[in-house]
Amino acid sequence: MIDKIEKLEKEIKEAIAQVATSKAAEELRIKYFSKKGEFTRLFDEFRTLPREEKPKVGQFLNKVKNELNELFKAKQSEIKSAAESSKNYIDLTLPGKKRELGSYHLLTQTLREIKSIFRTLGFSIHEGPELESDYYNFEALNFPPDHPARDMQDTFFINDKFLLRTHTSPVQARLMQSTDLPIRAIIPGKVYRNEAISAKSYCLFHQVEGLYIDENVTFAELVGTLVSFAREFFGADVKYRFRPSFFPFTEPSAEVDIWWEPAGKEGRWLEILGCGMVDPNVLEFNGIDSEKYTGYAFGLGIERMTMLKYGIDDIRIFFDNDKRFLEQF
Ligand code: DAH
Repeated sequence: MIDKIEKLEKEIKEAIAQVATSKAAEELRIKYFSKKGEFTRLFDEFRTLPREEKPKVGQFLNKVKNELNELFKAKQSEIKSAAESSKNYIDLTLPGKKRELGSYHLLTQTLREIKSIFRTLGFSIHEGPELESDYYNFEALNFPPDHPARDMQDTFFINDKFLLRTHTSPVQARLMQSTDLPIRAIIPGKVYRNEAISAKSYCLFHQVEGLYIDENVTFAELVGTLVSFAREFFGADVKYRFRPSFFPFTEPSAEVDIWWEPAGKEGRWLEILGCGMVDPNVLEFNGIDSEKYTGYAFGLGIERMTMLKYGIDDIRIFFDNDKRFLEQF
């Protein structure tokens, strides 16, 4: 019997050494160690032995059983960890993953450029709230209550007193009330209009307001400042015109158009800004002596200027966040 056990032990050890997959391991287990397995059957045989042989054979059989058990378990865990490490296997020959770098939105780029041009012209930069009061958005800018000029700008009202600012001009009044003279400032920011959305207008857009108040500020200076700005921004050969206009907070008022001639299309004038001399009523309302001080103001439309400069024909594209558009700039 001992010989038989040794023979089978040798056979099983060799078989275990050759096992490489969990399927093969299971087959081996069934062949030798299941209820009817070849090794298990040795125990049936052991039961039939004469009494005196039992202690010796029994001891040996158990020792072999334990050894084989250990060996088989070790093999199983070896197979398992091999399978796991192949799951985490890193293929060092694969090409690397590209990291995408972000960039500034085209409107942000334009705003930065405008700010830097006005900075070199001696303007400081200020900001104001987008949720604004009727008082600053209209009243302090010489829009009388119920005056039709309020309808020039379709307003998102929050309640009787508050609204989303329709322009950056309210920050003019805020500065006049809170800053020592002279004031020479630009005010970039978002504005909101309750308009039908189309290629030309959107419910949200950006403006840069300008304000200069001092003794003896003249309309000629306003023209000089805006022309040098336009040359810097659009190029020295830019074609522009000043056209008389009306705003409640400036007198006289003008609008500036830029000549736009896209390749292969007929050219036309496009308005980019409103401007004028600050109305004496506005100066007085905001606590400035209009006998002593004069000022000019202007408001640039940023989307419009960007569209002109880069040949973009639909304002909505700025707000779509389509990467195919954004990545071009
Ligand atoms: N606030 C005006 C608008 O949104 C633009 C404007 C016109 C601003 C004349 C000014 C100005 O400062 O002087 O239509």
